[in-house]
Amino acid sequence: MHVYRSALLRFADDGTALYDEDGLLAVGPDAAGRQRVLAAGAWRALAPQYAGVPVQHLPGRILAPGFVDMHVHFPQTDVIGSPAEGLLPWLENYTFPHEARFTDAAYAQQVAQVFIDELLRNGVTTALAFATSHPVSVDALMGAAQQRQLRLVTGKVLQDRHSPDGVRDRTEESLVDTEALIRRWHGVDRLGYAITPRFAPTSTPEQLRGAGELAARYPDVWIQSHVAENRDEIRWARELFPGSRSYLGVYDDFGLMRERAVYAHCIHFDDEDRALMRATGAVAAVSPTSNLFLGSGFFDYAGADRVGFGHGLASDVGGGTSFSPFHTMLAAYYVGREGQTKQGLSLSPERLWWLHTAGAAQALGLGGVVGNLQPGCEADFLVLNPAATPLLARKTSQASNLAELLFALIVLGDDRVVEQTVISQAKYGSRA
Ligand code: GUN
Ligand code: ZN
Repeated sequence: MHVYRSALLRFADDGTALYDEDGLLAVGPDAAGRQRVLAAGAWRALAPQYAGVPVQHLPGRILAPGFVDMHVHFPQTDVIGSPAEGLLPWLENYTFPHEARFTDAAYAQQVAQVFIDELLRNGVTTALAFATSHPVSVDALMGAAQQRQLRLVTGKVLQDRHSPDGVRDRTEESLVDTEALIRRWHGVDRLGYAITPRFAPTSTPEQLRGAGELAARYPDVWIQSHVAENRDEIRWARELFPGSRSYLGVYDDFGLMRERAVYAHCIHFDDEDRALMRATGAVAAVSPTSNLFLGSGFFDYAGADRVGFGHGLASDVGGGTSFSPFHTMLAAYYVGREGQTKQGLSLSPERLWWLHTAGAAQALGLGGVVGNLQPGCEADFLVLNPAATPLLARKTSQASNLAELLFALIVLGDDRVVEQTVISQAKYGSRA
């Protein structure tokens, strides 16, 4: 068992941020040997139960839940910062040619290590990630994540049309490969599989139908795709599937809307789309740095709340510009000013943080499992240094409440704040 004494951030079930300036976190293995939170709360209240247990005291630090990245592309690690007029030329000119390299298992394995290093350096301990259309890319990422005991969900991209040689797959084979990968990886250690049609325009109706059939046969497997990101993309999807009510409706028509279905972007929605998300239990992965970089638009947080569908934050690297959850939360704050009604304020810092931890976990169907530090949660946590830079040290020392402290970290923070990332008591980070 390990007992830590430090400031401690966690969340109540209703999303309220809980903060103990002098906190206690106790962590120990369950019957299966997986490290879990045994206790979390005020030092004064909990310490008597742990008398005699050695305590790791971390003065001046904050223990916080590992971040959850709801949508990221591991093969786009090196695509970050590729400029284009918008989504479709960006895919054609940079992304597809780069992803073609992942047919090479050795290359995929090397990038998988770099990708996981980046997640951990930035404090991300759970990710829902796209691989490429090559099954070896899934094996590479699953294998690398398994080695570090990371909770990771990924899948082979399905794209059997409107895609260049090198990334285009074949309908039948793509579905056989998907099922084989589900059987190989889903539920192994902390790994999960996601059925991954890239987006409706690059799949034939037959491929989407097959994906929907697999989704029905494997109900606890995730589904991930993109929707309503960019106006040219939407026009294209509508032309290809004129019988569907909307772009989102295409996925519904093929049985791809259900719990554990995660749609990236969801920007250009109407209220019927929002209601469909809510009714089916599908959720949105919101990627503000990507949407700003590619000029895609602004996610309507108020609209999502009004209709009531689940959503959380994501980097969307490499359309997104950073692996850092701090950068993503700050971009979400900027974007949240669009469409906000109350006093011009955007999302609160507590809510931003929740959307990237416990809220994102809840959206993924992993509430109470990751993204929080309540008893029973898997013990993935961060040691944050609120004085990691001179300016942060000044600013956080002047914070008079939790909102001010979290805002200072969101606005001024990045990977330098993440002193350690702890997974199953293994400690990662250059400052570990
Ligand atoms: N739509 C289809 N593929 C992609 C992708 O790789 N990134 C983003 N941002 N949108 C997509
Ligand atoms: Zn994406």
